[in-house]
Amino acid sequence: MKPRKSPDALRSARWFADDDLRSFGHRSRLRQMGYAPEDWAGKPVIAILNTWSDFNSCHAHFKDRVEDIKRGVFQAGGFPLEIPVHSVSETFLKPTSMLYRNMLAMEVEEVIRAHPVDGAVLMGGCDKSTPALLMGATSAGVPAIYVPAGPMLRGNWNGKTLGSGSDAWKFWDERRAGNIDQAAWNEIEGGIARSYGHCMTMGTASTMTAIAEAIGMTLPGASSIPAPDAGHMRMCAASGRRIVDMVWEDLVPARIQTRAAFENAITVAMAMGCSTNAIIHLIAQARRAGCDITLDDFDRASRIVPVLANVRPSGEAYLMEDFYFAGGLPALMGRLKPFLHLDALTVSGLRLGETLEGATVYNDDVIRPLENPIYAEGALAVLRGNLAPDGCVIKPSACAPHLRVHTGPALVFDDYPSMKAAVEDESLDVTPDHVLVLRNAGPLGGPGMPEWGMLPIPKKLVKEGVRDMLRISDARMSGTSYGACILHVAPESYVGGPLALIATGDMVRVDVPNRSIDMLVPEEELARRRAALPAPEPRFERGYGWMFSRHIGQANQGCDFDFLETAFGAPAGEPAI
Ligand code: FES
Ligand code: MG
Repeated sequence: MKPRKSPDALRSARWFADDDLRSFGHRSRLRQMGYAPEDWAGKPVIAILNTWSDFNSCHAHFKDRVEDIKRGVFQAGGFPLEIPVHSVSETFLKPTSMLYRNMLAMEVEEVIRAHPVDGAVLMGGCDKSTPALLMGATSAGVPAIYVPAGPMLRGNWNGKTLGSGSDAWKFWDERRAGNIDQAAWNEIEGGIARSYGHCMTMGTASTMTAIAEAIGMTLPGASSIPAPDAGHMRMCAASGRRIVDMVWEDLVPARIQTRAAFENAITVAMAMGCSTNAIIHLIAQARRAGCDITLDDFDRASRIVPVLANVRPSGEAYLMEDFYFAGGLPALMGRLKPFLHLDALTVSGLRLGETLEGATVYNDDVIRPLENPIYAEGALAVLRGNLAPDGCVIKPSACAPHLRVHTGPALVFDDYPSMKAAVEDESLDVTPDHVLVLRNAGPLGGPGMPEWGMLPIPKKLVKEGVRDMLRISDARMSGTSYGACILHVAPESYVGGPLALIATGDMVRVDVPNRSIDMLVPEEELARRRAALPAPEPRFERGYGWMFSRHIGQANQGCDFDFLETAFGAPAGEPAI
């Protein structure tokens, strides 16, 4: 293909092309690594942002996969250089990986801007890594393509299929109820995560990588390929080839990430029975791209888009490997055509509609037809009321139907440790009608909005056979979680949101069909409690947490740092060389 951009116009040419002392320095250091002008002269420099880490089991294959990406870049006449960035491991980072999403986003933006980069390949997959990489690359503005890690293989225990996250919660409740012994528990521990790759349930990882594809930031079909599949290596190489052409075509994220693209992502998220975390991340991503997506866009979509993906935890039976064999995301999107903007541009250079030509569903039970959905509506619902004036969310498709309209007394916990101790206490005064409330678990109060929102059912009730209760918090929950959990209450209690005012014994009324959530407490009483609220204790006195505390936004705005939002100040511009 004839380059549309001339080699002199490459951003990296500012580092390498001139006959001056600075460029001499840059070139001599490339030679120090064994490269010759044949490697770089006139070629797009492709940064491969690799979130590999020994602490990220989901990205364990990235050390190898980066070589496949480099192969593709070389084939297409580019010059690949790998840049390690923060891995944001969902499993090991405490207090929560969410505290570090924005740190990775900031790092991505800065490493791209500060280096001689013409285009970027973004390697991610484990929960927060996807939004973080996309947010940073969007702000950096160079052509970028997303390479999803791919889901791990199905878990297995005694011939039963295990889903990461979801089955851990499920079997843990059985263990607490005394139905599973130590030996069986050990076997489950060894069988639930059998290969590298991200969680293979429809958790946050599978949701966010599907969203990346729906927005148009991955090659068609990329997000569904299981991590150990040879097709994943081929996708990596193809992404490497493609990014080189994207540089010549100047196919920057702003040309792909339009409002229509984000609306497509919301539609797909709903049809996947997505993780609630998708809301926060997608709002943050869209705002970086200059699109004002709000909670109401999700609620609107959830009322019309049916859940078609029969993947746990919203679906009953299947996991991502089954979804891939059923045709993967292109097959699902093929079914969603009536709801999608098919003219949206993708990194492939094709319109979405063109990429879906020939997409076929091979298993109608895994990817349901529109007329036989898992749920006709209701992947997510946004509730508002005197407990959550700025909104909160619930996943009606994952909760017991009798709890969708419920009134009951609140049982309130001020912090996670006291809640955790109380639910194990079999003398706790609690009934299945109680509404469990956890506060101080939001973006500032948590801090970092930990995944505490699926509050454990009190042990006493678990033993009586209770498996779902209404729960309310300003926390998030894992995308692999389930139950009648109302999350992301905004504003959070730590900043004096009404959740801070509720007391044990107050009646709470939740009505999902009517989208309402209220505490039945007179306004005068709430005013009295508000006046008596103590000032919150600072969570951090130094370091990254201190900065986080000063700049983090609320859940309904995507929890980005205010100074990273697109409209905050003048663009950073190109560095002086
Ligand atoms: Fe990485 Fe679930 S722990 S995706
Ligand atoms: Mg998760």
